[in-house]
Amino acid sequence: MRVLGIETSCDETGVAVYDGELGLMAHSLYSQAHIHAEYGGVVPEIASRDHVRKLLPLLDECLEKADCTRGEIDGVAYTAGPGLVGALLVGASVGRSLATSLGVPAVAVHHMEGHLLAPLLEADAPDFPFVALLVSGGHSMLVEVSEIGKYKVLGETLDDAAGEAFDKTAKLLGLGYPGGPALARAAESGDPDRFSFPRPMTDRPGLEFSFSGLKTHTRNLWRKNFKQANAQADIAAGFQQAVVDTLLIKCRRAMKQTRSAHLVIAGGVGANLRLRKAMSQAGRKYGWGVSYPRIEFCTDNGAMIAFAGYHRLRAGQSEPELICARPRWPLDELRDLS
Ligand code: KG4
Ligand code: ZN
Repeated sequence: MRVLGIETSCDETGVAVYDGELGLMAHSLYSQAHIHAEYGGVVPEIASRDHVRKLLPLLDECLEKADCTRGEIDGVAYTAGPGLVGALLVGASVGRSLATSLGVPAVAVHHMEGHLLAPLLEADAPDFPFVALLVSGGHSMLVEVSEIGKYKVLGETLDDAAGEAFDKTAKLLGLGYPGGPALARAAESGDPDRFSFPRPMTDRPGLEFSFSGLKTHTRNLWRKNFKQANAQADIAAGFQQAVVDTLLIKCRRAMKQTRSAHLVIAGGVGANLRLRKAMSQAGRKYGWGVSYPRIEFCTDNGAMIAFAGYHRLRAGQSEPELICARPRWPLDELRDLS
């Protein structure tokens, strides 16, 4: 079975072709980040319009790379949520209509399920069950994963997502957009121990996160110290270390609580090298296996949607002929594959 995947939930247009026997045949990605950079964050209306402009040419490009014609596609998977409604509707309309015109089934994919399954695209794919730390621009959550579609959310953020905290902190430090990679770059020449930062919500039990206080703490530090030498890099490094330590403490708790032996890290913040290093070290120390997607599949992409959609379509799941977008869609509402 060969599946075309379409991702348009935020500011990346992604398309991919995944084949059950051949694996990932091709993927194409176009990022709108340079357009939104001018505004310091994603402008939803501009995002929708740019997906309209880019999706069909990208789809043709991807099929050509995969050496695959439209007629050779057995099913279409598109991100139906969560995300920006206008942006989602572009992928959903194109995906659903294409499937109808080709006479093949279409499946609506949950964006976070795409992230969660992305490490399974790698050669050293983890086995089920595992605990997943999903850290993106819109979500931060710990999920107990028994198999595809069987997800128990163990904890979520009470306010900002980890990626959102990176983005907002980068903005207040004058580091531009997208904030995560910019802050990580600035932190490379910084001393993470020069200023002290809290490790939020680690002094009480539970697996919830909260990052907005950390952002306020950083703002206050910056206001007091911005004229001092190397303050920007040192504050960036201290902030990054605080996020990494906090995520690590919560992962350790989740691993203990679920008695899991394997941890998966996915979502945009999973591209953070400091986080990857800290999690790998913890894996060696505590005897967990640790998996991540390759860096380019941490952030939004079509490959993870094609892959998640392939598994659902192969299990016989598909959507009626309705264009469906679900800007809010709890992960644990998903059906399993049986
Ligand atoms: O998964 P993603 O592409 O989109 C959402 O589903 O939200 O994640 C984007 C987020 C952004 O907040 C971005 O700043 C963050 O991931 N990010 C990073 C890094 N690369 C991307 N955060 C920290 N370090 C990075 N290297
Ligand atoms: Zn994402």
